[in-house]
Amino acid sequence: MNFDYTEEHLAVRDAAREFAQTELLPGVIDRDTEAKFPHEQIKKMGELGFMGMMVDPKYNGGGMDTVSYVLAMEEISKIDASASVSMSVNNSLVCWGLEKYGTEAQKEKYLKPLATGEIIGAFCLSEPEAGSDATSQKTEAVKDGDHYILNGTKNWITNGSTASVYLVIAQTDPAKGHKGISAFIVEKGWDGFVIGKKEDKLGIRGSDTHSLMFTDVKVPVENRIGEEGFGFNFAMETLNGGRIGIAAQALGIASGAYELALAYSKERKAFGKPISQHQAIQFKLADMATSIEAARLLVIKSAWLKDQGKDYSHASAMAKLYASQVAMEVTVEAVQVHGGYGYVKEYHVERLMRDAKITQIYEGTSEIQKIVISRGILR
Ligand code: CAA
Ligand code: FAD
Repeated sequence: MNFDYTEEHLAVRDAAREFAQTELLPGVIDRDTEAKFPHEQIKKMGELGFMGMMVDPKYNGGGMDTVSYVLAMEEISKIDASASVSMSVNNSLVCWGLEKYGTEAQKEKYLKPLATGEIIGAFCLSEPEAGSDATSQKTEAVKDGDHYILNGTKNWITNGSTASVYLVIAQTDPAKGHKGISAFIVEKGWDGFVIGKKEDKLGIRGSDTHSLMFTDVKVPVENRIGEEGFGFNFAMETLNGGRIGIAAQALGIASGAYELALAYSKERKAFGKPISQHQAIQFKLADMATSIEAARLLVIKSAWLKDQGKDYSHASAMAKLYASQVAMEVTVEAVQVHGGYGYVKEYHVERLMRDAKITQIYEGTSEIQKIVISRGILR
């Protein structure tokens, strides 16, 4: 057993840390306040190879392992979780799904520019009445010669207005239930595809979350991913890896808040000494550091399992469940360590606390992770 990172892992982590400090930190408070998408920063992340990290270099990707990816996700998320959710969706939901299950033509046309971040992608499963209950898809795609006619509404789509390519899950044979669901690649700008209003959110306010409406959108048959009826399994397989990315995001939010609390506790004086010398604060820091380390082990283990070609579906659900809980607990305590200063934007921890909450909701709520884990245990 070896807990050491390789030199490549450390180089990726350091590059992500440097980028986050120099390019994401300035302006992160304004982007949060104004709910402004980090366009320029995401473009630079593409140029640095962060948008298609695990994609094979023959499709313009970085050819890196999942451990490198989670190390980069942690560093970016410490500073800007709105940027890191775009990174996570593009890498682990869109690029991974296309590389694993797409045709060569789909990879040539869509994966190559997605892997460099020249364009970004979105993953569209959730609907107004199908969130956790994802098999209840109402969006329908009806075959008509060499096209499908797509109708329906998707909700809460990350990269909703910024994406150029959308992986859309839809019913093609309602009589077959989830075995009648298929997956399609849809391009922005196609007739009948309308991007709805941007959501005004509690956290990850820089991320552009939109509803999407499809009215008689013609989708060529060659844009179906895999066979007809494979769409639900495609979504589930893709989300197994996506959950590693979100677990790493939660870990980053927690460790970012902890680092700020630790530094502040050494500077702030009360009753004649730094607050870090009061045992109540020391114990908070000890609890934070311990739970972050435990979350990190689960996140790295799930990434390692994926890299080894082993089953990671339950490990990724455990990592997301636990890391997101740690993100909530640690960020609340980080605000507490900062006292009144923690409650204002300038000190960053209130944003991290608001950002933490989403990690317990998207890519499967904590309750859904428990369903996935318990089914694995009881199988
Ligand atoms: N890995 C692989 N396959 C899985 C799976 C997993 N983790 N979970 C379910 N499946 C498969 C099952 O094996 C089954 O396949 P077969 O019929 O071929 O055997 C099929 O999916 C249906 O499974 P169930 O019978 O268990 O279906 P269910 O309706 O009882 O439960 C669920 C399914 C696990 C609750 C699923 O609906 C789910 O994961 N819901 C959460 C949806 C979700 O995570 N949405 C995220 C949207 S994307 C997003 O959020 C992005 C973002 O924010 C940035
Ligand atoms: P519901 O499914 O209605 O759940 C409501 C509550 O009931 C939750 O607490 C849930 O855990 C609980 N619950 C439901 N069923 C059960 C059960 N069987 N047992 C126990 N408890 C249960 N989706 C995408 O497809 N693509 C995206 O890019 C995307 N980005 C998102 C970005 C943001 C900011 C947000 C808020 C959401 C995003 N989502 C995206 C949607 C997200 O995945 C869903 O919100 C999530 O899966 C929950 O679905 P829901 O909101 O319909 O809640």
